[in-house]
Amino acid sequence: MSQKLNHIIDNINFKYVKENDVANSNKLYKFKKYLFYLYALAKYQKLRHFTFYENTEVKINNSQFHDFSKRMKSIEGMSTIANAWIINQIASGLDKDQNYLNIGCWKGFSLIAGMINTTCKVFGVDNFSWVDAPRNEFYKNFNNYKNNEKHFFHDGDYVNFLKEWEKKNEYIDFYFFDGPHTYKDQYQSLELASNFFKTGTLILIDDTNWEEPREATMNFINKNSGKYKILHDLKCKHARHPTYWNGLIILQKQ
Ligand SMILES: C[S@@+](CC[C@H](N)C(=O)[O-])C[C@H]1O[C@@H](n2cnc3c(N)ncnc32)[C@H](O)[C@@H]1O
Repeated sequence: MSQKLNHIIDNINFKYVKENDVANSNKLYKFKKYLFYLYALAKYQKLRHFTFYENTEVKINNSQFHDFSKRMKSIEGMSTIANAWIINQIASGLDKDQNYLNIGCWKGFSLIAGMINTTCKVFGVDNFSWVDAPRNEFYKNFNNYKNNEKHFFHDGDYVNFLKEWEKKNEYIDFYFFDGPHTYKDQYQSLELASNFFKTGTLILIDDTNWEEPREATMNFINKNSGKYKILHDLKCKHARHPTYWNGLIILQKQ
C-alpha cells in the first residue's frame, strides 16, 4: 500500500495555487472564492467552505477523479478534493473484510469520500457537538450513498465508540481522526485506536499545520518507537488551503 500511496500522491497536481503559495495572492482563487461566498450567502444565508475544485487534477485515473469530484461537489467539507481523493484511493485498496474508520464527519465529506466506489466497510462517528451541529445535512448526505450492509454511523462520542470497538472483533485497517484537535484528544484518539491497529494499518492525521495535532502525533510516534513510520508529511502554507487544507500526515503501523 505504501507504494500505491506514493503513486496516488505523486500524481496529484495543483494547477493554480501550489502548496507553498498564499492562496489569496492568486487572483483567480480570490475571485472565485468571493463569488462562491456571495452565492452561498444568497442560497443558504451563510458562508460555506470553499473547495476550489478546479485547482486539482490527477495525472492518472483522470476520468475516475472527474466522476468522484462531481459527486463530492454536493457535500460541503472542511477539507479539499485532494484530501478526499487520497482517502478514496486508500479505501479503494481495501477489500470487503477490511474497514475505514472516520471519527469527525461533520457533513460527511471525509466519510463519504471513503464510500464512493469502494467495497470496504466504512464506519463514521460524530457527536455533532459543534455549534452548527449539521445532523440533518449529514444524514441527508450519508443516506444518499449508504449501503446498509457495509456503511455504519455512530451518533456519539468517539471515546466510548473506540472503547467498544473490541466487541466487533476486528482490526482497524484505515483510520482518520478529524474530531477535536486538542493535544489531549489527538493523542488519546491515537492511543485508544492503536489497540486495534495491525501491521499495515494506515493512519491519517490532518490539520497538522497546527501545533497540537502535530505534537501529539509526534509524541505518539516517539513513545511507540519503531512501531509507526511516517509515509508522508504533506504541508501547505496555511489553513483552508486549496491543496492539503491544513496539512496531512500519513502513518503506517509497522
Ligand atoms: C473538523 S470537523 C470534521 C470535518 C469532516 N471530517 C469533513 O471532512 O468535513 C470535526 C467534527 O468532530 C466532531 N466532534 C467533536 N468532538 C467530538 C467527540 N468528542 N466525539 C465525536 N465527534 C466529535 C464535531 O461535531 C465535528 O463535526
